[in-house]
Amino acid sequence: MRTQVGIIGAGPAGLTLSHLLHLQGIDSVVLESRTQEYVEQRVRAGVLEQGTVDLLKESGVGARLEREGLIHEGIELRFNRAGHRINFAELTGGKSITIYAQHEVLKDLTAARRAAGGQLYYQAEAVSLHDADTPQPKINFRHPGGKTEILECDFIAGCDGFHGICRDAIPSQALRIHERVYPFGWLGILAEVAPSAEELIYTYHERGFALLSMRSPQISRLYLQCDPEEDIANWSDDRIWTELRTRFATRDDWSLADGPIVQKGITPMRSFVAEPMRHGNLFLLGDAAHIVPPTGAKGLNLAIADVRVLTRALIDFYKHKKRDRLDRYSDTCLRRVWKVQRFSWWMTSMLHCFPNEDTFAHNLHLAELDYVTSSRAASQSLAENYVGLPMEEDEAKR
Ligand code: APR
Ligand code: PHB
Repeated sequence: MRTQVGIIGAGPAGLTLSHLLHLQGIDSVVLESRTQEYVEQRVRAGVLEQGTVDLLKESGVGARLEREGLIHEGIELRFNRAGHRINFAELTGGKSITIYAQHEVLKDLTAARRAAGGQLYYQAEAVSLHDADTPQPKINFRHPGGKTEILECDFIAGCDGFHGICRDAIPSQALRIHERVYPFGWLGILAEVAPSAEELIYTYHERGFALLSMRSPQISRLYLQCDPEEDIANWSDDRIWTELRTRFATRDDWSLADGPIVQKGITPMRSFVAEPMRHGNLFLLGDAAHIVPPTGAKGLNLAIADVRVLTRALIDFYKHKKRDRLDRYSDTCLRRVWKVQRFSWWMTSMLHCFPNEDTFAHNLHLAELDYVTSSRAASQSLAENYVGLPMEEDEAKR
């Protein structure tokens, strides 16, 4: 089998790349080890930056997003039993975020690829890469029946997530890993109850962080900080709602409505960066190269930002035989990756309780939140990072 760009992984990075390349007449083959059903029902986050929404709409896969996405022009920061709104529209010249679940984005992209006759192979696991640092890189993959086949290509796009094979294909002596593992996790629930707020509520509480988010006017998505080793079996639905009520409590008559919990799970939290994000003709994108803690809602958006940079570079190569953007791919992406890492680490540090924190640390959290919600400069900084930093500036030399 032969193609121009061999893409491993049908997550947001792989499918968006295949779609954008198709629009430019550049061929690709997507290999995904799981089934389409599994990928399309996997519950993940659901906050889209302005730039991500614009890209999905401009590239023709934004119709359902436009119909069903929930546009939010702000968030609330809650601490000391009181809420403070960060007005994105006012602080960023009209920008907003859109709540639209990641797996819905994948459904729209898959439908567009299928409609365009895209080559998507599910239950096709990539087992090894060869000659990645040559002009003819190859992917050895296994078909559902077990038969293996070689996919020859000009470039390999490693969109295979954190647990994929592509990052390990970069020689260890060339790869630098930067990491933070947080001493807490998130217990997340999906509940069949109307969201108790119009916008997201990020809460700092001495018992731990809590987040109120949503999926639709009927479905709420909530998270609370917990021990990463915690066993979900210890968390009855009643205990979860009681703890959420305690952490979201305010002095006014606001109340958290509860309802049937249809999905719950605990996710660990880490910050992770692998660099360089390129080795020869192998390019890493999304979670294969970087992980952010979910507090800044950046995982999906950062994956899409990598896709933009690589798409532009591949257009330059195939249309103008120019390689300079390919050569700058890693540096260009890492400039944004580190800014997004900083923002996600900062939101996580400000809003979570760390083990054995004393009253000094507790008051520092409160003072930072008080500053962020009372200083225009500080709330504007949060707002511009949350809605998404402009892509253009990534290109400019440092
Ligand atoms: N062969 C084929 N497919 C593979 C292989 C392999 N060897 N290893 C992993 N995959 C697939 C996984 O099954 C998964 O569907 O690669 C895909 C990677 O998708 P994601 O993990 O969603 O990664 P990415 O596309 O970079 O999107 C990052 O997803 O996890 C969220 O919070 C994260 O929002 C971020 C976004
Ligand atoms: C979500 O809706 O799942 C969500 C929202 C905001 C975050 C993380 C997750 O920071």
